Amino acid sequence: MAAVRACVFDAYGTIFDVNSAVRRHAEQIGAEADALSKVWRSKNLEYTWVRSLMRRYVDFWSCTTDSLDFALNLHGLGERSELRGLLLDAYRTLAPYAEVRGVLQDLHSRGIRTAILSNGTADMLRAAADSAGLGDLDLPLLSVDPAGIYKPDPAVYQLAVDFLGVGAGEISFQSSNAWDIAGARAFGFRTVWINRTRQPDEYGLRGAVPELSSLVELPQELS
Ligand code: LAC
Repeated sequence: MAAVRACVFDAYGTIFDVNSAVRRHAEQIGAEADALSKVWRSKNLEYTWVRSLMRRYVDFWSCTTDSLDFALNLHGLGERSELRGLLLDAYRTLAPYAEVRGVLQDLHSRGIRTAILSNGTADMLRAAADSAGLGDLDLPLLSVDPAGIYKPDPAVYQLAVDFLGVGAGEISFQSSNAWDIAGARAFGFRTVWINRTRQPDEYGLRGAVPELSSLVELPQELS
């Protein structure tokens, strides 16, 4: 097998903790906080898939605001416009997982290039990377925007191949989303499933692709 020359990472859930937005304002939200966070995320993803299948792309910021509105309304918080503003600001500045910076630096020291490939807009990704203290690293931020369709459409994964100029088989793709791993694998990437919350198997991934509980073991997994 060809050596890995580049590592490409999903953003939301893999590099950035999507639940950290709601967590930051959990006190103001109250008992519904965890449920709100779950619905927000699942509707956000659903909107990307429905938009892709309808061939009616709107960017991920729109999917994020629309899904938050749904989640707030579902939980009877639709009138709380101040909360909406706080949560959207928090989504632009999500906390990174603790190990991210060290792992990226470790990969760089091994001569492996890194990039993020995400549904997020370039603007959202820049804001998140900067606030996470990753702005100084060699970490290109690739958005699906130029493809005009969302993951797991192959056109999205092709953006990383085109940008990096290396073969799909020399790229290791990391995501905590099983469906994203399935898509990346079907495209031809090598994949590592970052199964942070020990989710059950999906898409026949277990045993077929490396599965880690965080990014900490990634450099060793690839060596
Ligand atoms: C992303 C979503 C799928 O960052 O997590 O692309």
